[in-house]
Amino acid sequence: MFNEFFRYDGDQLMCEGIAADELAGKFGTPLYVYSAGAFRKQYREIADSFSAVKPLVCYSIKSCSNLSILKLLKEEGAAFDCVSKGEVMRALKIGADPKTLVFAGVGKTEDEIEHALRVGILMFNVESESELKRIAGVASRLKMMASVALRLLPDVDPKVQHAYTSTGAKGSKFGVDLDTAERCLSFIKSTPSLALKGIHFHIGSGYKDPLKQAEAVQKVAPFIKQVRDRGFPLEFLNVGGGFGISYDGSVWPKASEFAKHTVPAVKELGLRIALEPGRYIAGNSAIILARVHYVKESLGKTFAITDAAMNDLIRPSLYQAYHRIWPTRTPWRELKETEGVICDVVGPICESGDFLAKDRRMTKVKEGDCLAIFSAGAYGFVMSSNYNTRPRAAEVLVDGKNARVVRERETYDNLLGPELSGIA
Ligand code: LLP
Repeated sequence: MFNEFFRYDGDQLMCEGIAADELAGKFGTPLYVYSAGAFRKQYREIADSFSAVKPLVCYSIKSCSNLSILKLLKEEGAAFDCVSKGEVMRALKIGADPKTLVFAGVGKTEDEIEHALRVGILMFNVESESELKRIAGVASRLKMMASVALRLLPDVDPKVQHAYTSTGAKGSKFGVDLDTAERCLSFIKSTPSLALKGIHFHIGSGYKDPLKQAEAVQKVAPFIKQVRDRGFPLEFLNVGGGFGISYDGSVWPKASEFAKHTVPAVKELGLRIALEPGRYIAGNSAIILARVHYVKESLGKTFAITDAAMNDLIRPSLYQAYHRIWPTRTPWRELKETEGVICDVVGPICESGDFLAKDRRMTKVKEGDCLAIFSAGAYGFVMSSNYNTRPRAAEVLVDGKNARVVRERETYDNLLGPELSGIA
């Protein structure tokens, strides 16, 4: 259907070498199903496409942070993009070399900075002048050197699907503008505990136009030249993440098309490239399996009520994001305007924002059917919650004909336990 890893074989959706229904039967629903092959392939596409500029491919942990996924990517050669102490700890837990970790985020605490310095990360992506001073202060207290990259706000509008995922244009809380960057340079120059290792930007998440990345490189290039002229031995240009993926089966540019425009510009600057892809690697590498518990007609509308809900996948509610949904026992095909039924796929949560698809033309769905919600790998499980006191789903990793649980389904004890001391 979407890719070689999730495809119909006869009338059965296969997850690599295992039938989706077998997984749903064995591990229960709702269930996150990851394809190891898909993760590897997507990672390789990026690493290979940018090979001419010695890429440091820092997989963005926030997009899908399961330890087994991180371990798999580390084995492929990935470095990691972290945005919290927790994410740094995840990377260390799977044995990542601290010298492959970059640390972004506008609100790094003193404790997070100290932890990152002590474990020896590669560099901080600095987001403000105050943060730079804080890092310098912590480093000098610890008698250490802190390597930093300045995150610039290049003022490029990446034209993403939702305003919440646009981060590189005027008005964004991220990065520093060029005037501030100048002041940061002077501060770094006069501060022995700081070393400038790179320049960073991340213009947004899920953008389609490869020229946007190249445009951002062009925008920051004059600053980079100036930095060099002032004697800073820069090593990296970190272009962030943001490579979009197709959610509806239409053709989207591959990493190689981004590379075609970006690599020559980075080469000219004489720098190594760092990248922070999340969605491109994780997005189409997972599905959610959900069981239809009820089909309900109400005032002319049809609802398929599943055991997956907005707490399992919040993207449709939060960003009006489109995810393909289809039964696991009916080979997928495009429907004509007169075929199938128009239906809302919803969960059991007590609010009208709880939907996975709205007014969707679908093949007729029956109670007991298993549905696959596609493209759920990025910002899926990681954004799930316990809203309505619902245990979070299990996560399963499929590799060929093997499937194993990589995160157990939460239990009611997991949910209630932390509160019990309050009523003792
Ligand atoms: N680098 C930085 C500094 C980031 O903030 C992000 C994502 C990435 C890299 C990875 O971006 P990606 O390659 O995955 O596009 N929850 C939203 C997406 C939020 C993105 C946050 N930052 C969604 O579900 O669409």
